[in-house]
Amino acid sequence: MCGIIGIVGIDGKNVANNIISGLEKLEYRGYDSAGIAVVCDRRIEKLRAVGKLQNLKTKLEGNPISGSVGIGHTRWATHGKPTENNAHPITSEGVAVVHNGIIENYRELKFDLQKDGFIFETETDTEVIAHLLQREINNGCSLCKAFQKVLDLIEGSYAIAAIFSSFPNTLVAARHKSPLAVGFGEKHICVGSDVSAMSAVCCDVIYLEDGEWVKIADGNATFFDKNSNPIEPVKQKISDDLISIEKGEYAHYMLKEIMEQPSAIRKTILYNKIDKEIFHDISRILILACGTSYYAGMVAKYWFEKFLKIPVDVEIASEYRYRSPIIGKNTLAIAITQSGETIDTLEALEYVRKNSNSRVVAIANVKNSAISRVSDFVFYTEAGIEVGVASTKAFTAQLVILARMAFGNHEFLMREFQNLPAICEEALDLNDEMKHLAQRIHTANSAIYLGRGSLYPISLEGALKLKEISYVHAEGFAAGEMKHGPIALIDDNIPVICLCPHNELFEKTASNIQVALARGKNIIIFTDSEGSKLLPSETTKIILPTIHSEFAPILYAIPLQLLAYNVALMRGTDVDKPRNLAKSVTVE
Ligand code: G6P
Repeated sequence: MCGIIGIVGIDGKNVANNIISGLEKLEYRGYDSAGIAVVCDRRIEKLRAVGKLQNLKTKLEGNPISGSVGIGHTRWATHGKPTENNAHPITSEGVAVVHNGIIENYRELKFDLQKDGFIFETETDTEVIAHLLQREINNGCSLCKAFQKVLDLIEGSYAIAAIFSSFPNTLVAARHKSPLAVGFGEKHICVGSDVSAMSAVCCDVIYLEDGEWVKIADGNATFFDKNSNPIEPVKQKISDDLISIEKGEYAHYMLKEIMEQPSAIRKTILYNKIDKEIFHDISRILILACGTSYYAGMVAKYWFEKFLKIPVDVEIASEYRYRSPIIGKNTLAIAITQSGETIDTLEALEYVRKNSNSRVVAIANVKNSAISRVSDFVFYTEAGIEVGVASTKAFTAQLVILARMAFGNHEFLMREFQNLPAICEEALDLNDEMKHLAQRIHTANSAIYLGRGSLYPISLEGALKLKEISYVHAEGFAAGEMKHGPIALIDDNIPVICLCPHNELFEKTASNIQVALARGKNIIIFTDSEGSKLLPSETTKIILPTIHSEFAPILYAIPLQLLAYNVALMRGTDVDKPRNLAKSVTVE
């Protein structure tokens, strides 16, 4: 949710191109607008453009700017429309600021600044930061004092970086509840929302903690805690897998990431040994997550209750702390997250921490992310960087970890894991069939997905994938629930996509399919060879490899991803950067 970057060139070289390269890596965090500002001859020069980063690059070609200290931003609009005027960097005379997060008390601050004669030119909450800094500088404060005062005044969540015409070699940056890392290279010191943005020029990194801030000047970075006492955080090496993320032979990251699933699953199995101790003395499991990760949690409920015999609550993280949840004794909290920084999930975990002594486990894809750092224990999905905004390989890898947690005492199922990557590989061969199916359904305005048991959450995930990237309205339903309302939607045109392997719920799902078929013609069933023999011939059957029913959620997710991808292609949407979405959501 907005990406920020700041770079100080140690050798005085122009950093504008490095900032743009960094923004390329951050664009997954938002692409409503992009902007850059540098200090040049004691002036702030800035350039901003609405829409994707490419628009800014094109603009820069005609109006190059240069400076050895600069900041950049890629925006996911919260306060103010995605116009050029609201694009960051936001300036106030000699101050330029980029911000990720929300300043919750901006109205009071704005009112106060207006009384002091500051004129607001944008609709953003960020503008108060720029004016507050300028006001303190006008009042004769040193740069550090000014920044410290402003940090004391602002409330909400932020990662901010600021540059100043009157301190041309200096950049300051701070974080509170939005991620920020400081990178060190031979010729650059950088700040950025994530390490990939700086990995091209940096080899070491320090992750700022909440309330911490940094001043970078003359080749040095000085760190401070929330009370502005100097601190000396420890540098870590930037891991090699952050360095290169290319699309390679694929048209889109999403397709590449779908195709990488067998290897992501294989690695996740290999690198995660689940210690049974984790469930010792646990009488309840609480799963907190958002979006696709939440659906992984829903699948886990089926598995955990069946195999661990522990009751499970799966909670939408954004709702959790705003009611009065009862956290029972001996609860194990599990946060599921690809990015590891979704603010709703992070805040829900903090609520659990404050209100109970529950142990907290994270399942995260991004190493060293905020959620993994606040958890007692982390299992990392070994999916590698996921760039496509719609989550694919991280989801199936999350399911693998959850399944391993659930099946730990079950030797046969634990052995079956070894076959999973190869079976998923076979599912990828369905891509051509998914192209044909997409050809048939891509003009539909709406689609229904049905599943039972642990495939019900997969029907929700299938529908979410279609909505996210093709903008087709889609809903997932528990197949047995269809008759209680959704059935009214069925006519000859609406595609009804049913997940119906030959498992213990086969007869029940097959009956639901008959009911749908009595009312509509466009019934598409994802099944296996045994199921296909028994299902009505007037339907379209997609035959998946036969798999043990407990693993079906992992396998059946894959062709649904391919279907959504192909529908999106035919509808001409921007698959990797669908409108209005961001991969990492760091605002509530
Ligand atoms: C955003 C993304 C979704 C993702 C959700 C949760 O909405 O667009 O793809 O499922 O956040 O993200 P997390 O990183 O916590 O899994």
